[in-house]
Amino acid sequence: MTKKIGVLTSGGDSSGMNAAVRAVVRTGIYHDCKMYAIQKGFEGLIHNNIYELDVGSVGGIIGHGGTFIQTARSAAFMTKEGRQLAYDNFKKHGLDALVVIGGDGSFHGLHEFIKEFGIQGIGLPGTIDNDLFGTEFTIGFDTALNTAVDCIDKLRDTATSHSRLFIVEVMGRHSGYIAAYSGIATGAENVFIPETPDDFVKLCSNLRKGQARGKKSAIIIVAEGDENGGGMEVEKKIKEILPDWDIRLSIIGHIQRGGRPSAIDRIVASRLGYESILALLKGQTGIMVGYQGLDCDVSFVPLQETWEKRKQIHKEWLDITQVLSI
Ligand code: F6P
Repeated sequence: MTKKIGVLTSGGDSSGMNAAVRAVVRTGIYHDCKMYAIQKGFEGLIHNNIYELDVGSVGGIIGHGGTFIQTARSAAFMTKEGRQLAYDNFKKHGLDALVVIGGDGSFHGLHEFIKEFGIQGIGLPGTIDNDLFGTEFTIGFDTALNTAVDCIDKLRDTATSHSRLFIVEVMGRHSGYIAAYSGIATGAENVFIPETPDDFVKLCSNLRKGQARGKKSAIIIVAEGDENGGGMEVEKKIKEILPDWDIRLSIIGHIQRGGRPSAIDRIVASRLGYESILALLKGQTGIMVGYQGLDCDVSFVPLQETWEKRKQIHKEWLDITQVLSI
């Protein structure tokens, strides 16, 4: 019997979600499934915003940022009543399975939905934060990282021209991946992330040393979820220790979420979308399909583990940033 599979994107959008939807839809159709878009994440299930997609409906989108089936953070789906409405519509359309592209909040929702109604469901990691256990890359991380690097390079130009210290806030509510990796890639002087404590005294002493040897600028990258608060709080604290320095704050913000997906994000999205259908056809459920590297390895991780086991940023990345910017 033909399998009917719904696909939705949920939570914050990330570049490469369109490529993932395309891969899910085309692989499904290739294997004789009927494929359905659910508009605006779980909200679309609740409000019965569900429609069939054909091969052509996902044409020309692999290089587009955002998500053409839209996304939402659904408060209603976090309630039992909301999930019941969603299930009623799921059944009304005769759906057999669901592919959810999103982050840990979306996976929580899918996990509950599977537990309550026994539906078949698979998650694909779609978030710029790269904070899901069991996958080396999340779809959208590489593009967001490259955007942050591009912005920070530009800030370095103006910082050097004026002999300034720039505090740059990047995204990451609970996660320092964009901060840690952009720190290395831009030669930042230091990086503050939620996962590790900040040492302001050491930072400022290193900044002074750098100035004494003739450095013309400094960049401190702060993840928005840093335990000291975001860039604004960090700026205040540094100003207290270095009152004579010329300091500016730049918050990069949602620019990191948009734009044409990088080649890596398109490749990761295509691979994972393809694998999600094969996994569904083999009867798998309640898992995330994760990416383990360009050599084509994928992982199948129980949804709960993706948020219960914490993905750790290697301390070496932060050490490298400091050592290489002496
Ligand atoms: O999707 C992840 C993320 O971009 C976080 O890095 C950030 O804290 C959050 O979403 C912002 O969410 P919103 O778009 O709802 O402001």
